[in-house]
Order: sequence, then C-alpha cells, then structure tokens
Amino acid sequence: MSKQRKDQEIALQGSMRAVTQISAKGEPKIGVDEFMALCTRFGLSKKTLDRIRKAVNEEDWGEGPFLANYYSGLKESCVQAFQRTARELFGSPYAIGTSSGTGALHGAFVAVGAGPGTEVICPAIGFIATANAASLAGATPVFCDVDESMHMDPNKIEALITKRTVALAPTHAMGGVSDMDAIMRIARKHKLAVVEDCAQSCGARYKGRMCGTIGDVGIFSISAYKIVGAGEGGLILAKTKRLWERASQLVEAGGLWRPVRFAPPRYRGELFTGTNYRMSELEAAMDVVQLKKMPRTVKRFQKVKAAILKRLQRFTEITPQVLNDPDGEVGYTLRFYPDTIARGECILAALHDRKIQAGMRGKKADDDWHCYSFMHPMMVQYPIRRGDCPVADDLFDRVITISLNQWYTPADCKAIADRINEALATCCTIDPKAKAWR
Ligand SMILES: Cc1ncc(COP(=O)(O)O)c(C=O)c1O
Repeated sequence: MSKQRKDQEIALQGSMRAVTQISAKGEPKIGVDEFMALCTRFGLSKKTLDRIRKAVNEEDWGEGPFLANYYSGLKESCVQAFQRTARELFGSPYAIGTSSGTGALHGAFVAVGAGPGTEVICPAIGFIATANAASLAGATPVFCDVDESMHMDPNKIEALITKRTVALAPTHAMGGVSDMDAIMRIARKHKLAVVEDCAQSCGARYKGRMCGTIGDVGIFSISAYKIVGAGEGGLILAKTKRLWERASQLVEAGGLWRPVRFAPPRYRGELFTGTNYRMSELEAAMDVVQLKKMPRTVKRFQKVKAAILKRLQRFTEITPQVLNDPDGEVGYTLRFYPDTIARGECILAALHDRKIQAGMRGKKADDDWHCYSFMHPMMVQYPIRRGDCPVADDLFDRVITISLNQWYTPADCKAIADRINEALATCCTIDPKAKAWR
C-alpha cells in the first residue's frame, strides 16, 4: 500500500484504526460483487466485465473501493478528469463536478452573493430548480416574463431590478439560448451577476461562445435525461478563482477543496456554512465519457434540425419560435405557436395521425413546474400569481413541441418534414410570402 494511500486510510478511519498490531479485519465497505452488480447495469460486454472484475480483484482496496473524488487513490480521480474535460471543452478556467444541477445552482447563487434580503431574477419558463436554488440560498426569486423565444425577455428585466437584486439567472431552455448580449448589457449596467442555467442546453452556443461561459457562473445538470448525463450529476463553470472558491465552499463544506483543509479563513468571506453536493466517482466515470461525446451529439442534433427546417413550408396561422441564435442552439426540439389552442389541437391530431411525436399543453393539462405559475412550492412562499407573466402563460399553453432525435438519417428528416407539412396543411393555409423557417 502506498504511503499516500495509508495516510488517507488513517485520515479516514480515525485514530482507533490507525493503531497498529490489531488483527481485526472487516468486510470491505463496497465489495467486488456489489461493484460488479453496478457495472452490469451499463450494458458492457462480458469481456469488459471480466476485465473489470479482474482489475477490481487485483486492486489493493483494503476496506473496499472508495467511490469518492478525494479518496480514489488514482493519480487523477474520475471527478478531476471530468472537471478537466469540462474546462477544456467549454474553455472555462474553473469547473466543479456536483451531485446535481440543483446543487450546482445553489453553489452558483451563493458564489455570486445571493442570500437573505436579496433577489434573483429568473425566467418565467425554465424549471423550478432555478428558483428553488435561489430560495435555498435565502434569496427571493423574482420571475421575468419571456418573449417569443420563450426565454427571459430582456425588455422586461429592468422593471424588476431593485436595490436587493444581486443576479440575473437566464435559463437556456430546451436546447435554445437566451438573448445573452442584451442580458449581459443590463447586468453590467446595474452591476449584477449573471448565472446561466444551461441544464437543458448543454453544448449550445450564443454567437460562437459556449453557453455557461458568458455570464459569471454557468451551471449544468448532467442527469440521465439531459444532453450529457448518466445518472445524477451537475457541473459549475466559474469565471474567476474567487467565484470558484465560494462555489466550492458551498458545495463541498468538508473543506477538501482548500489547500489546507481546516485552516482559518484566508480572507474575509472565504468560509461560511456549506453543504455536501460532491460528485461521486462512479457518476464521474460515466460523465467524463458522456461529456466528451457532447460536441458530436450537438452537431448531430443541429444537422437533423436544419435538414427538417429547410423542407418546412410556412403557414399563415402558425408562428415559429424565435431563436436567439439559430446556429448555436442544440436543436433537439422544433417549436411553433398556433394562433389558437383549438387550431393547435387540430395540428396535434394531424401530427399524431402521421406518427410525429409532438405535444401541446392546451388548457386542460396538469400543473407543470417548468412554468412559474404552476410552481406551487414557490407560490406558497412568495406572492406569485398566474397573470404576472402573461406572455409565458399564453405561450406555455399554446406552443407545439416536436422532439427530434440526433440519429435521424437524411431520409428520416425528409419523411418527417413531409409529414409535418402535410399535417399543417390540414389545419392551416400555406403562406408563400413568409420567410423560411430558421
Ligand atoms: C433548467 C434546469 N435547471 C436545473 C435543473 C436541475 O437539475 P438536477 O435535476 O440535476 O438537479 C433542471 C433539471 O431538469 C433544469 O431543467
């Protein structure tokens, strides 16, 4: 056993176990069989599983493997590799792997100074996690209406800014991007921080810049349902060392991120109450691989969406979603607004008849925590009512969303576009003069 490993064990097990000449030996904390049971869930070949079992059996693990960043025993832990990959891919100086996007948001908000008596401006459409995290930090979430891009409307931000506002938290929603030039202009004018919530748009760009690196802090969810992800995880990108330190203190209050773990504060404000949102080694082992695939995944989605859009006809009764950067968005959804919900229902039925996966909330749908006026955990704490953000209320009910798949072939794209055109033609009139879809 290496000296470093021995020191770590002593540190972990405490003084009793550090006493030598004791013959007791317990079962490993995590045994080979438990570890292999996890591995088999990932659909690996028998050959690979055999190799893993061999490696695991040969590893000197003492009490069993520690599936933890700081105790992996590796030269570069999986979490460190994940963070390095994130820094390289996004071109960001600082990255922190976390256990969830919500944990990442909590760290980001605290890093930029959200706390009791402050306010954070969140978009009316996104996900409740953004407002939840602002609230967890002690701040009051204030919802800003959206525009026809279904992202935070920059024209409505300034009216919401008070002397308590500390941050703007635009969400890049459903593969799309927020109007970052306008948002950054307002933030700089009022000396506000910007936390970009990129949970739904990992890999998107705004005017060539990676989303998550434009504001002060960017966060990502890398849970199973996101563009990048395996199980549950998150990522924080920070622009400065100070922001990285503050986010680290919140998400990793064990202090292991510090050069000297238990040392007194090196400067005023360095240390404060924290949590544990650390990413696990198992999660990181998967996520580092997933993250490396991200640029190719995004390219495939963009190619598919462009191939479909170029064949779509324009119709008088529907308006395509405004895209703040059509070339930079990830493009895993195609969205448009029918003029009425009744027409939307007609279009939806025609799409479904043609086996096109599409959805619209309409008037009768259930509550949904992606829109502020259904976020009951927020509504019971803050004076939020449906009607505060009328554009969001309207568009959230009326938008038709068609989900796209990165693996569609050119022939699939043509067939899908043809079917969408057919479906739209059954309920709408062709507008030959309108601009092409973008
Ligand atoms: C916009 C947005 N922010 C944050 C989150 C929270 O991420 P997590 O589920 O990893 O906590 C989500 C998750 O769906 C999300 O969509």
